[in-house]
Amino acid sequence: MAEINLLARYPRATRNLAARKQAQAESRTIARRFGREYFDGTREQGYGGYRYDGRWIPVARDMAAHFKLRAGDRVLDVGCAKGFLMRDLMEVVPGLEAWGLEISPYAIDNCHPEARGRILRGTAQKLPFASDSFAAALSINVVHNLGLDACIEAVREMERIAPGRSYIQVDAYRNDDERDMFLDWVLTADTFGKPEMWRDLFRRAGYTGDYYWTILEARPP
Ligand SMILES: C[S@@+](CC[C@H](N)C(=O)[O-])C[C@H]1O[C@@H](n2cnc3c(N)ncnc32)[C@H](O)[C@@H]1O
Repeated sequence: MAEINLLARYPRATRNLAARKQAQAESRTIARRFGREYFDGTREQGYGGYRYDGRWIPVARDMAAHFKLRAGDRVLDVGCAKGFLMRDLMEVVPGLEAWGLEISPYAIDNCHPEARGRILRGTAQKLPFASDSFAAALSINVVHNLGLDACIEAVREMERIAPGRSYIQVDAYRNDDERDMFLDWVLTADTFGKPEMWRDLFRRAGYTGDYYWTILEARPP
């Protein structure tokens, strides 16, 4: 199990914490439906418009190198949204078979054309795939949307389908300032805490894959 940031080359988002904080209670209810508003509505309710722009290409390259992916390998992206990372993985590793699992019918209906037919509807808690059936499994900012017990089950499922060959990224904070910013920004996460909490959860789930954190950091003045 290794702590490694495979999203180091993902562009940093611009965040208006004040606006998000003000809009929060209603926005959370709307965001948690993972419908149109979450992906293509306002920034207060989610992505503020999630369109393909190639931003995952460098991440796909880093993932391909990390997991030594090659033609014929099967990779699963759990909570793949519109399948952009899947699409980019198939570009950077020609012949790779990328699959996705998503809870949102809206995301599946509006996925990238190259991901069409490759995304199954379901929940991270119960993956409809055989054990040890993927060369790698990825889940970025997804399992923290589940309550604690379900979150542990989702982590266990990642381990089951790709033992020791997964990457999970989750919301976390390291100190009170980061926690306060996180609480002002969070829309959908249900299980969150410090990295120690997550490492303990991973151990309880028997997880042996890799992981990293999505942390809101204060910008220098
Ligand atoms: C923050 S987005 C991350 C999407 C994508 N992994 C990325 O990094 O851009 C969370 C995604 O998880 C999906 N999701 C939420 N709960 C889920 C669950 N229980 N099982 C599978 N997908 C889920 C949402 O529909 C959404 O696409």
